[in-house]
Amino acid sequence: MEAINILFFLSSIWILSTTALDIISVNQPLTDGTTIISSGAKFKLEFFSPGTSGKHYLGILFNEVTVQTVVWVANRETPLNDTSSALNLTRQGILTLVNGSGRVIWSSNSTRHVENPIAQLLDSGNLVVRDDSTENYLWQSFDYPTDTALPGMKLGIDLKTGFRGFLRSWKSRNDPSEGEFSWVFDLRGFPQPFVMNGSIERYRSGPWNGRGFSNSPSQLPSPDYNYTYISDPEKVSFMYQLTDRSILARVVMQVNGVLQLSIWNNQTQNWDDYVSVPADNCDIYGQCQSYGLCNSGNSPICRCPDKFEPKDPTEWERGNWSKGCVRKTSLNCQKEVKFLKYPGIKFPDTRFAWYSRGVTLNACEELCLRNCSCMAYANPDITGTNEGCLLWFNELMDIREFGASGQDIYVKLDSSELGNSSTKMVKILSISLPVAVLGLLLALCLILYIRRKKKDQNQQHFSKGRGTRSSEMFCTNESKDEELDLPLFDFETISHATNNFSLSNKLGEGGFGPVYKVTMLTENFLFHPKKLIRSAAMDTQQLT
Ligand SMILES: *[C@@H]1O[C@H](CO)[C@@H](O)[C@H](O)[C@H]1NC(C)=O
Ligand SMILES: *[C@@H]1O[C@H](CO)[C@@H](O)[C@H](O)[C@H]1NC(C)=O
Ligand SMILES: *[C@@H]1O[C@H](CO)[C@@H](O)[C@H](O)[C@H]1NC(C)=O
Ligand SMILES: *[C@@H]1O[C@H](CO)[C@@H](O)[C@H](O)[C@H]1NC(C)=O
Ligand SMILES: *[C@@H]1O[C@H](CO)[C@@H](O)[C@H](O)[C@H]1NC(C)=O
Ligand SMILES: *[C@@H]1O[C@H](CO)[C@@H](O)[C@H](O)[C@H]1NC(C)=O
Ligand SMILES: *[C@@H]1O[C@H](CO)[C@@H](O)[C@H](O)[C@H]1NC(C)=O
Ligand SMILES: *[C@@H]1O[C@H](CO)[C@@H](O)[C@H](O)[C@H]1NC(C)=O
Ligand SMILES: *[C@@H]1O[C@H](CO)[C@@H](O)[C@H](O)[C@H]1NC(C)=O
Repeated sequence: MEAINILFFLSSIWILSTTALDIISVNQPLTDGTTIISSGAKFKLEFFSPGTSGKHYLGILFNEVTVQTVVWVANRETPLNDTSSALNLTRQGILTLVNGSGRVIWSSNSTRHVENPIAQLLDSGNLVVRDDSTENYLWQSFDYPTDTALPGMKLGIDLKTGFRGFLRSWKSRNDPSEGEFSWVFDLRGFPQPFVMNGSIERYRSGPWNGRGFSNSPSQLPSPDYNYTYISDPEKVSFMYQLTDRSILARVVMQVNGVLQLSIWNNQTQNWDDYVSVPADNCDIYGQCQSYGLCNSGNSPICRCPDKFEPKDPTEWERGNWSKGCVRKTSLNCQKEVKFLKYPGIKFPDTRFAWYSRGVTLNACEELCLRNCSCMAYANPDITGTNEGCLLWFNELMDIREFGASGQDIYVKLDSSELGNSSTKMVKILSISLPVAVLGLLLALCLILYIRRKKKDQNQQHFSKGRGTRSSEMFCTNESKDEELDLPLFDFETISHATNNFSLSNKLGEGGFGPVYKVTMLTENFLFHPKKLIRSAAMDTQQLT
């Protein structure tokens, strides 16, 4: 009777211990042929043999999925030759994979020690080592991704801890060892994720725009999934989550170099592709080279943007875009420059860009204007905050046209490229002008007039050798040496155009006094009415 009771007692312990299917404890190794299953039965940890390899690996796999789907591999570089291996948790809380001869093939890392370590496979697909009584992980497989990112898994770089979580493809479908393709963050400039082929850029996701990465609209979050992105001086990390947690999803850096989000289809018992990159030729990094615009809906796919031309026109005609595009009028720091808005694009490579939060678009333009090597500026944020300034200091690389779903960039051009419309305006000026336009001109001409007057007072002669500024042409009507023939305006007009000299219209202060932005009533006067005034303001600043 006593013996039966003890037997019953022992067997119930056995039942109890095996009901905790998701745990490995010290002295209770996981052997080849046995499996632990996460609490919600989504994932399993076991020894598996991929394809026809005949080799054994310890890995985490989708449990309910009928197609063998591996999400993590412990010993990806050191295959096991037979089934004599086991995964053991040491008293120090280190997972060790030992082969039949007791040789350690792979082990987890941890710097801390705990009293009662356990290893647990969570229903998120994360294998964690922790103390029995806490949720504080000593180690977790999510920190050491192989080729798959699961929902809730952070990818990125932590400069403080040196942690670098990124995906690297398998070598082949039968071989989980590291392949050529990886998905990594590049922290230079403004951080961007890249799909790399070895050390060559293959695909660039574009900078974070507040909701997603600045690439094709298909990668913006949908009601089905969202993104969490953290970027501060110490770390950059990225994570996606599904709204419906019963959906099985994975992002895989595939052996063919395609990064793919797929969803398990319970009806067809297959993985359905959801998002794949690169998806088309324009996704291939630098397809149209510097300043080239790629549009997969066009034939040919590359073209030079307005005000640009092919650097090697003959080769370009042949579809060899290797030299890219150049400005029709090259930039000269000694001359006046302006900005032209190119709407609806995928932002160029930001590895050599500079970013600052909390800088308005106007201030951003100012910064770009002041720095000779600045080529373009933009606000990367699409969430409605008017703050955030990206400045590009290199030739703009890897640009796509997206139309309405793209973003706007302002590219620096020689002012003569935008000068035609200003000479046209001079003619209109000589006839008659709407009040608002007059307001603009007034401010501009007033600046020039005062500047000149001041120079005259100082007995200095206006330098004629510095190239024609369109602002000068504007008021002097091509006869720079003639005395200014200024139209006169009453105070009311100026007051109205500058919004009663409001602070928000004030652009800055020159030697002559404050410069105001003039509120325009007509939109199509010049490209950027504000900028004309602004450049005049810059001129005066340079001169004073
Ligand atoms: C598997 O076998 C190969 C040679 O047959 C050997 O080099 C390798 O070390 C073995 N791997 C393990 C984990 O025992
Ligand atoms: C597992 O680890 C424990 C404690 O470190 C050790 O005593 C035991 O021999 C190990 N088991 C295997 C199979 O290596
Ligand atoms: C264990 O690994 C060592 C080193 O790779 C190897 O020499 C030994 O044969 C392996 N033992 C078994 C049983 O695979
Ligand atoms: C363990 O840590 C060392 C040093 O930090 C590192 O080089 C090694 O790759 C780590 N191993 C694993 C399995 O994480
Ligand atoms: C990856 O790069 C290698 C050369 O480094 C090239 O041969 C191969 O075609 C590239 N693969 C893809 C998919 O671009
Ligand atoms: C994303 O979705 C998950 C699941 O619905 C939710 O818990 C999380 O708060 C969401 N995150 C963001 C940033 O919206
Ligand atoms: C998949 O479908 C089967 C029956 O067709 C059902 O029993 C199971 O719950 C479904 N699984 C999921 C995750 O929806
Ligand atoms: C493409 O053009 C460049 C010069 O612009 C030349 O050096 C290169 O050989 C050309 N490539 C091909 C494939 O013709
Ligand atoms: C322009 O910007 C570059 C890059 O940030 C910087 O190295 C350089 O000093 C700046 N030049 C001026 C005049 O501010």
